[in-house]
Amino acid sequence: MAKTYSIAIDGPAGAGKSTIARRLAKELGYYYVDTGAIYRTVAYFMDLLGISPKDVDGVERYIDELTIEIEYDEDGVQHMIMNGMDVSGDIRTQDISQKASLVSAHAVVREVLLDMQRAVARKHNVIMDGRDIGTVVLPNADVKIFLTADPEVRAKRRYDELIAKGQKANLPTILKEIQQRDYQDSHREIAPLKQAKDAVKVDTSALDIEGVVTAIRDIVGKKIGL
Ligand code: DC
Repeated sequence: MAKTYSIAIDGPAGAGKSTIARRLAKELGYYYVDTGAIYRTVAYFMDLLGISPKDVDGVERYIDELTIEIEYDEDGVQHMIMNGMDVSGDIRTQDISQKASLVSAHAVVREVLLDMQRAVARKHNVIMDGRDIGTVVLPNADVKIFLTADPEVRAKRRYDELIAKGQKANLPTILKEIQQRDYQDSHREIAPLKQAKDAVKVDTSALDIEGVVTAIRDIVGKKIGL
């Protein structure tokens, strides 16, 4: 089989991973895999069944009832198909963000999803973003980037995004949720959020999107050529 290339982008919630990864994937003609969306789909499924994301026995009992497919539309946008139903919009709420963070701590969930993520990377050139891509999912990725920004900056970006969409938002609440998710994601026992030893750290606090894309394009260019 021909070699496939993989670029891993990890980092905390709101660092700009998906915006950057989507842009670069388009430029490079790679598949963009948003792994957070897969955990969100598990959280949404359990939520519909009334299972608490903390209830490890409940999650273990029902995980086999769930089939997840990742599909791409003609614009290369990833869609999450849960038992045949497109739930891509339903998984994007603050409530599901928190529940995905909790459900993702369970070993049974991480094991099932690990195989799914590796299978995509075996078949295609990918830019994959998440929390443990460079450390666990694709330890041999060709490029590893750890994208981060101060929590206050990430909260303000999220706040601006919601306001621009005409939604209500409260900055202190968003900041509290981000800090809580950072803590949960980086303190769990299995595959916690952390920078891989061989990852390049990019702090986006003082950069706009163009600045981040330029910085990352540079790193990718040096490692695998563009
Ligand atoms: O990237 P996101 O905000 O959509 O991710 C939602 C949650 O899923 C995140 O808080 C932790 C979990 N997650 C994970 O544990 N490992 C990944 N590779 C991606 C996400």
